[in-house]
Amino acid sequence: MVERDAEAIAILGGTGDQGLGLALRFARAGRRVVIGSRKADRAVAAAEEVRAKVPGARVEGYENAEATPLAGIVILSVPFEHTAATVKGIREALRPGQIVVSMAVPLATAIGDGAVRTVGIWQGSAAELVADLAPDGVAVVSAFQNVSAHRLQHLADPVECDVIVSGDKAPREAVMALCALVPGLRGVNGGPLANARIVEAMTALLIGLNVRYKVPEGLGLRLTGLPEA
Ligand SMILES: NC(=O)c1ccc[n+]([C@@H]2O[C@H](COP(=O)([O-])OP(=O)(O)OC[C@H]3O[C@@H](n4cnc5c(N)ncnc54)[C@H](OP(=O)(O)O)[C@@H]3O)[C@@H](O)[C@H]2O)c1
Repeated sequence: MVERDAEAIAILGGTGDQGLGLALRFARAGRRVVIGSRKADRAVAAAEEVRAKVPGARVEGYENAEATPLAGIVILSVPFEHTAATVKGIREALRPGQIVVSMAVPLATAIGDGAVRTVGIWQGSAAELVADLAPDGVAVVSAFQNVSAHRLQHLADPVECDVIVSGDKAPREAVMALCALVPGLRGVNGGPLANARIVEAMTALLIGLNVRYKVPEGLGLRLTGLPEA
């Protein structure tokens, strides 16, 4: 077992499309990545895949609850409908001072409907649901919902997408700094966590645009006129 490293990034469900894409990008930027899975062997296999594509990558794989305490930032990369159960499963492993990133999009596929609309959540957004479940002292930040997994995984090209990051100031800024590690991603100050309601819904819109404009790689989002940081 390796030691906790505040600079490391844990990605739970990092065996899937979006999490693996982020793992590849952060590993390529030289950051230590810890991939989590419900099954340790799947996490180890995903870590091997990252190492094969990013020579020299510092990446390991563990079961979700083992991966959680190892990193300063823990990204939840499981489908929306499994987000609450995943957070409940890692609650005991989370430590004060850690940041949990919610990128789940509450697509209506969760209830057997389509991917171009969302479902309502009592708390207002998937990110606020996560905040409701997270232990005291753990900050929840919303980010990466509008980034395409395909673009993340295609390492040859920059991702070309703005990432609207919402949550309290210090953890929000820590997650905005992660965006800067990925060529083409730009973290944008999205204000309070409740704005995740808007950002999550925008992904359903982007999915519809991908279909109408026949862009299977996934559209990105760019804001114009932003002053330089
Ligand atoms: N794909 C995209 O382009 C995209 C874009 C923006 C945002 N997102 C968001 O990113 C998150 C991940 O998306 P994805 O496309 O990577 O999802 P995915 O490939 O369908 O699933 C990701 C991982 O979730 C885990 N998982 C599956 N069923 C689970 C369950 N019942 N309980 C706990 N974990 C389970 C699996 O990991 P193990 O089997 O290894 O545990 C799986 O590899 C979602 O919240 C999605 O809304 C995705």
